[in-house]
Amino acid sequence: MKKVLAVMGSPRKNMNTDKLLDKVIEGLKTNDVELKKVYLKDLEFSPCISCGSCERTGGCFMNDDMKSIYEDFNNSDIIIVASPLYFNTISSLTKMMIDRCQVYWSSKYVLKNPSIDVNKKRVGMFICVGGAPKREDHFSACIPVMDLFFKAINTEYSENIFASHTDEIPVWERKELMELAFGKGKELGC
Ligand SMILES: Cc1cc2nc3c(=O)[nH]c(=O)nc-3n(C[C@H](O)[C@H](O)[C@H](O)COP(=O)(O)O)c2cc1C
Repeated sequence: MKKVLAVMGSPRKNMNTDKLLDKVIEGLKTNDVELKKVYLKDLEFSPCISCGSCERTGGCFMNDDMKSIYEDFNNSDIIIVASPLYFNTISSLTKMMIDRCQVYWSSKYVLKNPSIDVNKKRVGMFICVGGAPKREDHFSACIPVMDLFFKAINTEYSENIFASHTDEIPVWERKELMELAFGKGKELGC
């Protein structure tokens, strides 16, 4: 059975990011999967303070809710991160989680002793919603960030779902988008 970690990075529950993520999850659940959904807003964790301790130990000295996220990254087969678009990039909640993944860079490239199983196959999906009308480059600033993040957690960045104009037309009113999200979830879990 595949293990799925779904990370919800919007401070607003039951809104566009959350609903789109739930539709992907609905599709995933047509497969035999074990799902864990995490609301970053409900976790207690702090931003990286660049103290350098991970360069000495390979782990983070902070004893907070990131500990369980680190375990979930290691053990999951499928990792989905969903974020709203804030100032053309991911939300601060999402970025705070990503910055804490410096432990992987340190353990791999400074200590040469990865704190994640680098041989495990994982696939990753990124979901992002933006309130403004669609533009060609609407989500482009997020992509290099997510690319580096998925590399850090040794996960193949395989799929994006982007939705613009959510401040005018919420995702739950968009049948085609919701069907696409369901289909991509179903496929991801195969
Ligand atoms: C702090 C902040 C910054 C935002 N910046 C952008 C932006 O740069 N581009 C955009 O299209 N929408 C922007 N929005 C609108 C959100 O992307 C939009 O409301 C989205 O639906 C929020 O996701 P949610 O419904 O899951 O909370 C911003 C909203 C907030 C609160």
